[in-house]
Amino acid sequence: MNIHGDRVVLRAVEMGDLAKLQQWANNPEIQFNLGRWHFPLSESALLQWFETFRHDGMDQRFIIENEDHGAIGMTNLVNINWKDRNAFTGLLIGATPLRRKGYGVDTVRTLMRYAFEELGLERLDTTIIAHNEASLRLYTGKCGWIEEGRKARAFFRRNQFHDNVILGITRDRYRACLESGSFS
Ligand SMILES: CC(C)(COP(=O)(O)OP(=O)(O)OC[C@H]1O[C@@H](n2cnc3c(N)ncnc32)[C@H](O)[C@@H]1OP(=O)(O)O)[C@@H](O)C(=O)NCCC(=O)NCCS
Repeated sequence: MNIHGDRVVLRAVEMGDLAKLQQWANNPEIQFNLGRWHFPLSESALLQWFETFRHDGMDQRFIIENEDHGAIGMTNLVNINWKDRNAFTGLLIGATPLRRKGYGVDTVRTLMRYAFEELGLERLDTTIIAHNEASLRLYTGKCGWIEEGRKARAFFRRNQFHDNVILGITRDRYRACLESGSFS
């Protein structure tokens, strides 16, 4: 089942998406704003990643698609914990000319609707490298997420350490944002 937002559709990752994913994974500007340890990613490494996707409901990965532009990014719900009802999510609008057009916000709000209203999760988590103002504003300013803590000097990039900001949102807070009209 694809997941429809106002301007994006979240669908499964297909083999045909791997070339774009490789481009995004090897883009230094994109990777500067993400966590994890980065190194050049080969086609075969990506294929291996794709072939080892878990299909047991613990990880769900989505291509963000837009009617006019096709695949524009990727998001996910990973480490889904069905007992405590939480999951971790990440976001990437890889097509840089399509940034700042509202696709990121629509993706996060759509993913929250799916996580809270379809999967019945209780909370969602993400982390953001502290210099990523765009992402911090998107999650906290436009999608209702709260900064819950910080890991000092957790990432080393461009010869400097950067904090890792821990963000979360609960189902109650999501409902409150929805009902107050702050997502409209
Ligand atoms: C961060 C990212 C997901 C934003 O996606 P986007 O589609 O460009 O964001 P939107 O157009 O939905 O912007 C929503 C809000 O986020 C904030 N924002 C987005 N880009 C911004 C920027 N370059 N500078 C400051 N604020 C920004 C603004 O508050 C914006 O609302 P506004 O346009 O009304 O001011 C995207 O830039 C991206 O994928 N970057 C690289 C990877 C990354 O950082 N991923 C997130 C990791 S946690």
